[in-house]
Amino acid sequence: MNTKEQILEAYRFRHACKQFDEQRKINADDFDFILETGRLSPSSFGFEPWKFVVVQNNDLRDQLKTVTWGAQRQLPTSSHFVILLARTAPYMAAQSTHIQKMMTDIQQLPPEAVQSKGSMYHNFLQDDFKLLGNDRAMFEWACRQTYIALGNMMTAAAQIGIDSCPIEGFDKEKVEAILREEGIIIGDEFGVSCMVAFGYRVSDPRPKTRQAIKQVVQWVK
Ligand SMILES: Cc1cc2nc3c(=O)[nH]c(=O)nc-3n(C[C@H](O)[C@H](O)[C@H](O)COP(=O)(O)O)c2cc1C
Repeated sequence: MNTKEQILEAYRFRHACKQFDEQRKINADDFDFILETGRLSPSSFGFEPWKFVVVQNNDLRDQLKTVTWGAQRQLPTSSHFVILLARTAPYMAAQSTHIQKMMTDIQQLPPEAVQSKGSMYHNFLQDDFKLLGNDRAMFEWACRQTYIALGNMMTAAAQIGIDSCPIEGFDKEKVEAILREEGIIIGDEFGVSCMVAFGYRVSDPRPKTRQAIKQVVQWVK
């Protein structure tokens, strides 16, 4: 098989796996590889507004099951279960500690570049996307970026024969309350964006249903 066919094969292999083989655990090296593809994912301005919480504690999984209708079988059976958190509005503002730290410590920008990138970013939030003053819209914008990491992790997993299921079927406030109670979310810096379960399938998936390429692509020449 050539490379393109191998990659497409992984896209066909990936499906929203509902139930995983409880006897099969993903080995540490493979799971580190999956997380690394999340870490290397792109984000707007490179500000990485995310955190990936790997939930391997069964008591916590049981608690989450009560407020996560979309993962009734995935929570108890998956080998690894990840909650993707996104930073909330105050922690995404140009002057916030996180954004300043990203520019200085992580991106290692010199002070004048921190200044100019910071003001460009502020203008983008204020004028281009009109996010300032709308905390929920700003949080959702941060969430959108976590979905890039989500997609990359699921595709990477599929490329090494590991199944996954993305999950949005949960009560956001109730999940956050549980995570706060458990000390996983501290204060108001993070909210829950989405979840993803990883493991090995127990049964074959239903055939894929997708619109034809003509229906989803519009060429402008
Ligand atoms: C953002 C997102 C959230 C989803 N939430 C759930 C969920 O809570 N529970 C579930 O079983 N499937 C969930 N799915 C899976 C979709 O139903 C599935 O991807 C879609 O029907 C296409 O099927 P396929 O992924 O098997 O090709 C979600 C998918 C996405 C992309």
